[in-house]
Amino acid sequence: MHAILNLHEYEAAARACLGAGAWDYFQGGSEDELTLAENRAAFGRMKLRPRVLVDVTACDTSTRVLDVPVASPILVAPMGFQRLAHADGELATTRAASGAGTVMVASTMASVRLEDLAAVPGSTLWFQLYLFRDRAITMDLVRRAEAAGCRALVITVDAPRLGRRERDLRRGFALPDDLRAANLPPSSAGRLHEAGASGSAIARHAQSNFDAGATWETVAWIRSISTLPVVVKGILTAEDAKLARASGVAAIVVSNHGGRQLDGVLAAIEALPEVVEAVAGGCEVYLDGGVRRGTDVLKALALGARAVLVGRPLLWGLAVDGEAGVRRVLELLRDELALAMALSGRPQVARVDRSLVKFP
Ligand code: FNR
Repeated sequence: MHAILNLHEYEAAARACLGAGAWDYFQGGSEDELTLAENRAAFGRMKLRPRVLVDVTACDTSTRVLDVPVASPILVAPMGFQRLAHADGELATTRAASGAGTVMVASTMASVRLEDLAAVPGSTLWFQLYLFRDRAITMDLVRRAEAAGCRALVITVDAPRLGRRERDLRRGFALPDDLRAANLPPSSAGRLHEAGASGSAIARHAQSNFDAGATWETVAWIRSISTLPVVVKGILTAEDAKLARASGVAAIVVSNHGGRQLDGVLAAIEALPEVVEAVAGGCEVYLDGGVRRGTDVLKALALGARAVLVGRPLLWGLAVDGEAGVRRVLELLRDELALAMALSGRPQVARVDRSLVKFP
């Protein structure tokens, strides 16, 4: 058998390692999974326009995000309950991100406490924040993230409720007893274990805990209680991008939550150009959703993203081989990006420009 060559092969290998419940929770999108498929299909429709006879003897993938140097523009997306993939869970992912010289975004719904992740040597941790109806919970998470040394707050704004993830509904998905939402108080986390006759415990938890009344005023409130830079994750339109910029955020993640929230929305990569145009350099813009190849990263950079976040492929690496698997997925993507930069005549990230892609 050959060594795993690409992220698609990690996906196949992970399937063999994971139970059906975890697999469906990781892989699934909402409703008909149209957006989930679109995130991939849209990258396929975009074509590259390479330049030749450029000196590419040295290709440098390094860049900066929120003033932090990173080895590549490939960051770790926030994903909950990673101990479903491997006993080390988010600890392994954070170690791998640290080893690869990139940013780890830790989820509110992590299965390892944020303080334990922040303690990983050399790590750069950003904390992803869900907005709770009980503001005391949100406030406590912000305080803990600051105290632990997190460098940014990433507010997820596309999940006032969870999308209808029918794979989880069908299975009556709930957290196993040996895995906790480690950042949450027991009063809130307990509900995640309540397997119902039908329905998903995480959807019920979100409905009773997340603040469906959150608005831009709530983002302003977070900014008023913390000095950390605020990133909003889940923007898909120029209209919201302008509001985000006006509210003083440091960065936007163009994202449809990996096709897990409103089904039928456009692919993240298709939404990217209007967001980049709307903010006009006023804040950084990142993208996530469907990034599986170095050429996908290149296309996102060409359309104005400063970096991409990668989700599911890191869970595949984690399931197959723990920290080493996550590290390998990050390395494969980075190596593919360096090759794509060489073959397109763009030896530095700063030289990846809009003329590199052609839309249909
Ligand atoms: C997520 N995502 C997510 N986002 C977030 O803001 N907070 C969270 O807790 C989670 N949890 C989560 C769990 C799982 C299993 C998945 C697959 C995704 C969304 C995630 O951050 C990101 O937006 C997408 O995963 C990106 O798409 P790809 O790379 O998975 O296609």
